[in-house]
Amino acid sequence: MTDLVVVGAGGFGREVLDVAYACGLTDCVVVDDAPSADNIERLGRMGARHLGTIDDWLTADIRAPYLIGVGHPTTRSKIAQRIGGRASAATLVHPSATIGRATILGAGSVVCAGAALSNNVELGRHVHVNPNATIGHDTVLGDMVSVNPGAVVSGACTVDTGVLLGAGSVVLQDVVVGRFATVGAAACVVRDVPPRAVVKGVPAR
Ligand SMILES: CC(C)(COP(=O)(O)OP(=O)(O)OC[C@H]1O[C@@H](n2cnc3c(N)ncnc32)[C@H](O)[C@@H]1OP(=O)(O)O)[C@@H](O)C(=O)NCCC(=O)NCCS
Repeated sequence: MTDLVVVGAGGFGREVLDVAYACGLTDCVVVDDAPSADNIERLGRMGARHLGTIDDWLTADIRAPYLIGVGHPTTRSKIAQRIGGRASAATLVHPSATIGRATILGAGSVVCAGAALSNNVELGRHVHVNPNATIGHDTVLGDMVSVNPGAVVSGACTVDTGVLLGAGSVVLQDVVVGRFATVGAAACVVRDVPPRAVVKGVPAR
C-alpha cells in the first residue's frame, strides 16, 4: 500500500523523500506533470517511482496522504489550489529535527534534517523548513513559506504567506516579512519587509 504521494520530482521533492524514508515510510510515489529524464533516473536510484501526472494521481484510487515537494512558494500555492480538498496533506518531521513545546505544524508542512524549531512556533499549511534552518520561539510562519537551508528566523517574527527566505539568511527578532516577499541568500533582515519585496544584503534592503 502506498505510504505517501510526493508532488514534484525535482530537488525538494527528492528531499521530501529523504525525510519520508527517515520517518520509516517505505512505499513512496512521486507525481509530476513533466519530470525530466534525469529526475526520473534520480528517483529510481532512491527507490521511488514516478506514478504519472497530478491528474493521474487524483483520478486513481490512492488513499495515501500527500506532500508538495516544490520549493517555490508561488508554484506550491498553485499546486495546493489545484489539489484542493481531493486528497489529505501529510506532515513530516525528520527524526533529527528538534521541535519545542507548544509548537504547531500545519498540514502539508515538512521539517528537514537538523532543523530546530523552538517553542510556541506556528507553521501554516505547506511550509518547508529546509535542513539546518532554525526558527525562534513565538514565531509564526504563514502558509506556503519556504525557509531555505541554514536560514535563521529569530524569536517573535511574523513571516507571512508565501515568503521565501534564502539559504543562510537571518531575520532579526520581532520583524514582519510581508506576503510573498523574497529574502536573498545570506541577507540579514533588520526591519520589516513590505509584501512582495525582494531584499538582499547586510542589512537587507
Ligand atoms: C536575492 C535573489 C532572490 C535575487 O534574485 P534575482 O533577482 O534573480 O537576482 P540576479 O541573479 O538577477 O542578481 C541581481 C543582482 O543582485 C545580486 N545578488 C543576487 N543574489 C544576491 C544575494 N543573495 N545577496 C547579495 N546580492 C545578490 C547579483 O550579484 C546581481 O548584482 P549586480 O546587479 O550588481 O550584478 C536571489 O539571488 C537569491 O538569493 N535567492 C535565494 C536563493 C537560495 O536560497 N538558494 C538556495 C536554494 S536551496
